[in-house]
Amino acid sequence: MLLLDFIRYHQHLPGTKTGCNEGDCGACTILIGELQNGAMHYSSFTSCLTPLGNVRGKHVVTIEGINLSGSLTAVQSAMHECTATQCGFCTPGFVMSLTGFCLSQKAATLSNAMAAIDGNICRCTGYKSIERAAARVAQILEPRNGTIPAQYAANTHILPDYFINIPDRLQALHSTLEPAQDVAAQPIGGGTDLYVQHHDTLKQKALRFLYDQPALKGIRQEGNTCILGAATTVADLMASPLLQAYFPYLSNYLKKVSSTQIRNMATIAGNFINASPIGDLSIFFLALDTTLVLSDGVKERELPLRQLFKGYKQLNKSPDEFITRLWFYLPSQHTLFNFEKVSKRTHLDIASVNTAISITMQYDIIEDIRIAAGGVGPVPLLLKETARFMTGKLLTESLIREAGFLLQTEVTPISDARGTADYKRLLLSQLFKAHFITLFPQLETAILIR
Ligand code: FES
Ligand code: FES
Repeated sequence: MLLLDFIRYHQHLPGTKTGCNEGDCGACTILIGELQNGAMHYSSFTSCLTPLGNVRGKHVVTIEGINLSGSLTAVQSAMHECTATQCGFCTPGFVMSLTGFCLSQKAATLSNAMAAIDGNICRCTGYKSIERAAARVAQILEPRNGTIPAQYAANTHILPDYFINIPDRLQALHSTLEPAQDVAAQPIGGGTDLYVQHHDTLKQKALRFLYDQPALKGIRQEGNTCILGAATTVADLMASPLLQAYFPYLSNYLKKVSSTQIRNMATIAGNFINASPIGDLSIFFLALDTTLVLSDGVKERELPLRQLFKGYKQLNKSPDEFITRLWFYLPSQHTLFNFEKVSKRTHLDIASVNTAISITMQYDIIEDIRIAAGGVGPVPLLLKETARFMTGKLLTESLIREAGFLLQTEVTPISDARGTADYKRLLLSQLFKAHFITLFPQLETAILIR
């Protein structure tokens, strides 16, 4: 069962709305709270794509659960006073996303408040009034100064008092929970792709929930290797101090991946297994020459990510194998990395073309280079010929221009809803140059962008 159906039709709480049922509109946004190292951590989810099994032992907060008796909450008041609601259909989703922002540790800025609602769509108010409400919420949080978010929220009419007791209640619940039974069932991670494709059929299937298995979680360093659990979410990647240290622009790259709600739910392995030719994480991790560890429940094997994709939506794995973890070598001090994506909308959109590059320099010579590109072939591609051509050469504008011609021979884009084949070739060409403009600003960029 999906969480949205459970909320609306079993708990009879109709404040959470059903809109697109595909994670695209945010009308069904709720908050999920879980205990992490003794403290509560709340994230916004789209309940239309959340299997009920993924919220086992957690605090599910619907719009009804934040109501105060006799008055509006501070977020509800901000929406009301800024006339940020008309028909009201989207409003519970916006309120929940902004309330989630109040419960996060994020700095009280307008841009962070706006980022929290990047997965919410309104069809009638006009976004300026919603932006004003978000600004007001950020203002309310300004004096927070290190207070525990839930404590501050309870003190400032953002949330009812009962939130303070939730850690104890969850703790008690955890001690009585039986471990989940694994059955020979369809494995599912965050569900953000599978439920879009097989919304009704999945409701009838037995599922094996991988999302919360501790063995599939975590990001750690061993020597010069980074090891990630397969069920690590995009939000986990963004929040990782280890990854932030090695990829200083990580959050800029990853905020282009879907929306806050979906990033809170979507797992790395899910993005690979989806096998989309434009999977953002597939492109990101291909450029890092990532290795996967697959298990069939009995034995494990390693498989380079570049060998996972056999053809359009075809994977080099048996049906009973699932990814348990992945690893890659952390970039050395001479290695530079960049990710670029162009889509029709900034948020919540699939790439027309995306690309990542990892380049290791020995002074001005290219010692090693990997270029990954999506949306220009039936699978996420590593542009091996272009990399071979550039390796060992002096990095110059003319080399980049020549490589730009060569890479066109390695791709076979098709025309579809995200653009014509010619347009995608042009995009790839420009994004390839964008990598070098970003990483080597000293180069003659005027020549590059011609
Ligand atoms: Fe649109 Fe869930 S109903 S995101
Ligand atoms: Fe009508 Fe937002 S107020 S959809």
